[in-house]
Amino acid sequence: MPRAIISPSVLASDFGQLTAECKRMIKGGAEWLHMDVMDGHFVPNITMGAPILSCVSKGVPGIFMDCHMMVAEPEKWVDDIADAGGSLYCFHLEATSDPLSLIDQIHGRNMKAGVAISPDTPSTAITDDLGEAADMLLVMTVYPGRGGQKFIERCVPKVSELRTRFPDKDIEVDGGVGPKTIGVCADAGSNVIVAGTAIFGASNPEQVISVLKATVNE
Ligand code: DX5
Ligand code: ZN
Repeated sequence: MPRAIISPSVLASDFGQLTAECKRMIKGGAEWLHMDVMDGHFVPNITMGAPILSCVSKGVPGIFMDCHMMVAEPEKWVDDIADAGGSLYCFHLEATSDPLSLIDQIHGRNMKAGVAISPDTPSTAITDDLGEAADMLLVMTVYPGRGGQKFIERCVPKVSELRTRFPDKDIEVDGGVGPKTIGVCADAGSNVIVAGTAIFGASNPEQVISVLKATVNE
């Protein structure tokens, strides 16, 4: 299995101190920062877009921005996110009719490409070709749209199914993940762990990051 990567979701951070919050997470052991981009169409909420990501990438040198694009027409934002310093562009399979071309477009801008599936999308919707073309597969363990929701355990078998077909790919879980729910995710084979509330809401985020990482590495 690929290495453990912890990607705190900044949605749960203090947006007024965003760059400082990102630096705090990196200092606490996080490899990536998970940036939830919502457009008010694919999901009901609006969060942040390229101008904010650009400030973060300038303010936090070397940051790996794991951009979770909860947007309709994900093709439209590839250039803006690349220009803003995005490292990985993860689009929702439900939002595009031509995922393979989109992956080419993302790679053409030197970003890693991720494919996300919402709780009602089966893992088999990620075909062998598509999974091989992508760098990362994201299994949502809540309905996309907001932080702080309850982990949906019935999504976990999708992680196992994808891990069997794609032993070398990064497989991310996102939504309601924390010390209580990481065990089943790690057992199923996910190695990239997103956590918002569990990390930012903790009095000692560093300790939560190390618990999550240790569980994946067990
Ligand atoms: C939900 C977002 C998640 C969310 C995770 O739409 O994609 O990244 O912020 O937050 P927690 O860990 O609080 O569920
Ligand atoms: Zn997310």
